[in-house]
Amino acid sequence: MERLQKVIAEAGITSRRKAEELIINGKVRVNGKVIVELGTKVDGNDIIEVNEKMINLNRAKEYYLLNKPRGVISSVKDELGRKTVVDYINTDKRIYPVGRLDYDTTGLIILTNDGDLANILMHPSNKVSKTYIAKIEGLLNKDDIDRLKNGIFIDERKVKVENFKILDKNIEKNTSLIELTIIEGRNHIVKKLFASIKHPVIRLSRIKIACLEVGNLKSGEYRKLTIKEVKKLYSLKV
Ligand code: URA
Repeated sequence: MERLQKVIAEAGITSRRKAEELIINGKVRVNGKVIVELGTKVDGNDIIEVNEKMINLNRAKEYYLLNKPRGVISSVKDELGRKTVVDYINTDKRIYPVGRLDYDTTGLIILTNDGDLANILMHPSNKVSKTYIAKIEGLLNKDDIDRLKNGIFIDERKVKVENFKILDKNIEKNTSLIELTIIEGRNHIVKKLFASIKHPVIRLSRIKIACLEVGNLKSGEYRKLTIKEVKKLYSLKV
């Protein structure tokens, strides 16, 4: 059994908030009866009508992995009309990104209409690892490396760097290419991390989320997750 507003939202009709308005305004019937209580629970056998039209309860879940290009917003809609990650995916389902990448960050982002999986991936206790490649200003010295290894406090919470590698150093241009894995979902966290040791990020790309790697997905390309991958992601729940 699920709450009526959730079922209406997941059927792709509208958002959950609008579904609540429809219910309160008497626009929703369950098995022929107008329902105005928001807590009402329904299941797959109930006939639900919104504005006198039966809704399609095909609530199949969809899971996508997108290689987000630079200059794309990680949300469903953008008030300024900029391109969003959802615009890249060809589906009629109301999918949304799990977490976010900055406008200028490229790389992997998961999109789904499965709120349960999204919650698992976002919850800090499930320790979902993410690997990034950052081009930073300057060359790291021993002190920087020690600080990264020991973890750095950002906004009074320690960011633990699980793993990091210096992939390349450009002495002429005074830049470095760093691969690092963190278990963190806070916004702008990699940029804040390097800014705090005075090596601002010039470019950032996410190449891995848990078991999912960028592989040969080109910028702007996406693929569906396999059932096996979805199960693996579900298994991250502690
Ligand atoms: N950390 C950042 O600073 N930006 C991102 O987009 C992702 C992680």
